[in-house]
Order: sequence, then structure tokens, then C-alpha cells
Amino acid sequence: MTWLLTGGAGYIGSHIVLAFRAAGKEVVVLDDLSTGYREFVPDDVPFVEGSVTDPQAVARALDDHGVTGIVHLAGWKYAGVSVERPLHFYRQNVTGMQVLLEAVVERGLDRFVFSSSSSVYGTPAVEVVPEDAEVGRPESPYGESKLISEWLLRDVAAVHPELRHTSLRYFNVVGSGAPHLADHSPYNLFPRVLKALTSGERPQVFGTDYPTRDGTCIRDYVHVADLADAHVVAAGRLDDGLPCQTAYNVGRGEGVTVLEILDAMRASTGIDFEPDLQPRRPGDPSRIIGSAERIAQDFGWTAERGLHEMVKSAWTAWQHQVATHGGPPRS
Ligand SMILES: NC(=O)c1ccc[n+]([C@@H]2O[C@H](COP(=O)([O-])OP(=O)(O)OC[C@H]3O[C@@H](n4cnc5c(N)ncnc54)[C@H](O)[C@@H]3O)[C@@H](O)[C@H]2O)c1
Repeated sequence: MTWLLTGGAGYIGSHIVLAFRAAGKEVVVLDDLSTGYREFVPDDVPFVEGSVTDPQAVARALDDHGVTGIVHLAGWKYAGVSVERPLHFYRQNVTGMQVLLEAVVERGLDRFVFSSSSSVYGTPAVEVVPEDAEVGRPESPYGESKLISEWLLRDVAAVHPELRHTSLRYFNVVGSGAPHLADHSPYNLFPRVLKALTSGERPQVFGTDYPTRDGTCIRDYVHVADLADAHVVAAGRLDDGLPCQTAYNVGRGEGVTVLEILDAMRASTGIDFEPDLQPRRPGDPSRIIGSAERIAQDFGWTAERGLHEMVKSAWTAWQHQVATHGGPPRS
């Protein structure tokens, strides 16, 4: 049984590669390296360089490696950028999903885990959002592309009932499970703050007038190694023929503000700093916290690592990258 990890050279995908291998699952990676790094994939993991929007690359990845299940992570994730470049996001995220599903149906594959996002909820009306909350009002083309992809998967599975699937709606994924696997996203809070600190700059905070306890955005942060473990459970259930619901939140059910993260950064790095307070960015909901009950009940999965471990491991990985490459592997 081999699992295809699309986007396996990315920040999250590379952690899932490690977790699957630790769990004894064979993997193959398909990645176009648009935002990922070849160095993030161990040399002995089969690697196909290509796009999920390219049917031939998808066919190569599936057919040359006897793939039986897919974790589909490949895509673009920057909500703010998606507001400026909706066509790019729809192509990478929605067309990519469509091409992949066509190949899945053609081959009668029956196991599919989709990397969805809390952004499908937009700004929820409730404090802690459950999976069955109303979706359909994401705040960015990115969130819309994730929701459409979930619907595509659901609709295809409705006419191909052999296709067992689940969408994991990640909340804010941070930290590092290995020193060489840092998050380099230019728009995510953790790497932005760490980059500023190692460059002697003031970390920017976007929006201080949100209706939250200190005016900054609230997010539900989850350690990437915990998230990777949730995929091992999901894939294991699909391999064992156990039921999965169509969607699971993957978070901790706890909200943390941006300023609280900065406090944790000061404590972990030992660097004192004053943030550079900026206006809001487009496409950022004020608060989003996910209920972690469904995944705990069905999968027996709960996040084990807390905020301190998230910040500390992110800092360690960031310093490792700076020491070995002077920054991200390709910079
Ligand atoms: N990081 C988060 O907090 C977060 C939260 C919710 C959902 N997600 C989702 O998780 C997935 C992985 O995110 P990440 O943080 O690891 O981002 P990432 O940018 O590090 O990883 C994405 C990977 O996909 C590859 N890729 C992009 N477009 C591709 C294409 N068309 N064909 C093949 N490969 C392609 C990139 O090269 C990269 O390796 C994404 O789908 C993202 O939307 C991430």
C-alpha cells in the first residue's frame, strides 16, 4: 500500500512524509516545487517533479508507484495573495483537484485525504466552530477554492461510492517536527516574525482594531507534527476500511491572539522587540477557532504539543535554516 502525497515537498507535506514513514507506510511525492523544496523530501522517497494540473505528471506518479491512496496537499495557500490573483489560486487548487480526481476515478482508487482549511468557514458566527457550521462564506478566493475542492470530492464520491475520503480542515499550522523542516511562507505569522527577528527588523502586526480581547486576530494554532499524526490516523482508517466523516477540524480548540504569540516569541527567543503595528490585510477573518471534538471522538486524536513547543521548535528550525543556508534552502 503506497500513498501519494501531492505537495509533499512543502512545509506540511514533508512532515507527513516523515510521519507516514515512521508509521511504516510507503510514500511517493508529486510536487512542482513552486513553493516547496526538493531538500525537504528524503533521498530514498520516490519523487515526481510535476504539477497536479498536468494529467501526465499525475499519471506517472500514480502508475509508476502502485499508489493505493492519496493525501492531496498541493496547492497555494496565501489568502491575501489569492485576493489579488484569484485565477492562479483557482487553477492550482481547483483545477488541480479536478485533474487528480479524474485520474482517481479512471483507476478506481478508493482512498483520498484532502488538505482543506479553516478558511472555508470565513468568520464564523460562533466562538468555536464545529464541522457542521454553515460554510459558503469564505473571505478569500483561497478559502473558496478549498470549499469548491471539498464539494468536488463529495460530488465525485457520490457517484463513485468506492471512493472513501475525508477533508481535514487545518487551522493554523506552525512549529517544526525536525530542525531541517522550517516554515518559510512569506505571509504566515511565525516565519514573518522569525525572519524579522533574525534580520534585526520589527515584526509587523496586521490589524489592531479587530473585535478581539487585544484588538489583534485570534487563531487556533496546531503543531505541524500533531497535524501530520492526524493524517496517519486518517490514512490508517481508510486503509483498514474504517469509516471517516467528510470533514474534520484539525486544531486545538483554543484561540491565541497575535500579540500573545509575540509574547511567546519574546520568551522563546530571548529577543525583546516592539511590533510594527500595521492596518488590516484583506482576506483575514478576525477570529477563528475550531471545535476539536469530532476528530477526538472518531480518530482518538488530540493535539499533544502546546504553544511553547510550537514557538520553540519553529525558532530552532528557523535558526537551523539560517545557519545552514543563510535562509530558506533556495534563497
Ligand atoms: N500552513 C497552514 O497553516 C495551512 C492551513 C490550512 C490548510 N493548508 C493547506 O495545506 C497544504 C500544504 O500547505 P503548506 O503550508 O505545506 O504549504 P507549502 O506551500 O509549503 O506546500 C505546498 C506544496 O505544494 C506544492 N505545489 C503547489 N502547487 C502545486 C501544483 N500545482 N502541483 C504540484 N505541487 C504543487 C508546492 O511546491 C509545495 O511543496 C496546502 O494545500 C494548504 O492550502 C495549510
